[in-house]
Amino acid sequence: MRAASVSDFRELARRRLPKIFFEYIDGGSYAEVTLKRNVEDLEAIALRQRVMKDMTELSMTVETLGQTLAMPVGLAPVGMAGMYGRRGETQAARAAAAAGVPFCLSTVGVCSVEEVARTGTPPWFQLYMLKDRGYMRELLARAHELGSPVLVFTVDLPIPGARYRDVRSGFTGAGKLEAVLNQAWDGITHPAWTWDVFVHGRPHTLGSVAGAVQEGRRVTDFLVWIARNFDRSVTWKDLDWVRENWDRPIVVKGVLDVEDARDAVRAGAQGVVVSNHGGRQLDGVKSSIASLPRIADAVGGELEVFMDGGVRSGLDVLKALALGAKACFVGRPWAYALGAGGEAAIGKMLGLMRSELAVAMILTGCNDVRRAGRELLDI
Ligand code: FNR
Repeated sequence: MRAASVSDFRELARRRLPKIFFEYIDGGSYAEVTLKRNVEDLEAIALRQRVMKDMTELSMTVETLGQTLAMPVGLAPVGMAGMYGRRGETQAARAAAAAGVPFCLSTVGVCSVEEVARTGTPPWFQLYMLKDRGYMRELLARAHELGSPVLVFTVDLPIPGARYRDVRSGFTGAGKLEAVLNQAWDGITHPAWTWDVFVHGRPHTLGSVAGAVQEGRRVTDFLVWIARNFDRSVTWKDLDWVRENWDRPIVVKGVLDVEDARDAVRAGAQGVVVSNHGGRQLDGVKSSIASLPRIADAVGGELEVFMDGGVRSGLDVLKALALGAKACFVGRPWAYALGAGGEAAIGKMLGLMRSELAVAMILTGCNDVRRAGRELLDI
């Protein structure tokens, strides 16, 4: 099958990846109400078609946080990407650099920040606050030293939300022997993945993360490890601590409420990502796109407002810009593409977003993304 859309990449990834990883990427928390809302609320927004405008010149470039983005899209931090494609984080970093967009490396990536930086472009770096502050300081210093331009501090995961699919697939909660047998069977029944990712990519251990490995610990259950090691005492004061260790822009990811966005401004953040973690945390909260306009209205003049959650096409990108986002991030779209066909597929997915965005701009009469506003929507 040739992929013509993000949902095609999803289908290809479903076929190629071991079940535990596909379900981990695809799923959300609890009844997946927010996961669905993210996509459906974007779909429900009507663009306003305009005709007979000279649309010869189109500009998709945005400047943000000292960076120039070739289009207002970035690759969101996705944990364990090295399990979906061979040295997956490096493939994503290369595809993003080729498309002129940022790649944000997760704290819980398989590839270290050093390995990703060796692709030639230091990634944006995403921070989860672990209880071990010494290790946090070291991680920040490493990313800083390698030239990561922006820190994305994710604050909506003091504890992982319950994800039923991960329990059913055996990704979490299985006994040690059951987990090993389950993973072995998954590997045998997905030989292309086993050969490419597991044999050639040699991720440290199945289900391990670079951070944990560097701490000298083996991780048998990723979600249990998270629950044990993530620091849920974090408050806005800790942003001062982060800033002492990071003198470049800081973006707070996982803000859904206007009051929290105001707190982010007061705490001195340079940006927020309006996000509910792709419907993977508190199920039942509003979609990101529904939360965006109030936040953009309240704080858009004071810091950069980004959004993620449910963006599946260039049309969605324009809708988010119209409602106040400076740029959007995509999570699952690149994870699916990586699982489906690695760097080339991520490049193709970004190319699709770009051409869809061009169509949306031309037919709404918007020739510069920096000027996208609510007049592009029929609301
Ligand atoms: C994520 N997300 C995430 N966020 C983060 O800050 N650090 C991380 O390690 C991860 N890991 C992760 C793994 C997987 C498999 C997914 C799907 C998501 C959340 C991610 O950055 C982003 O907020 C959402 O994915 C956006 O929603 P969409 O684009 O997937 O709908």
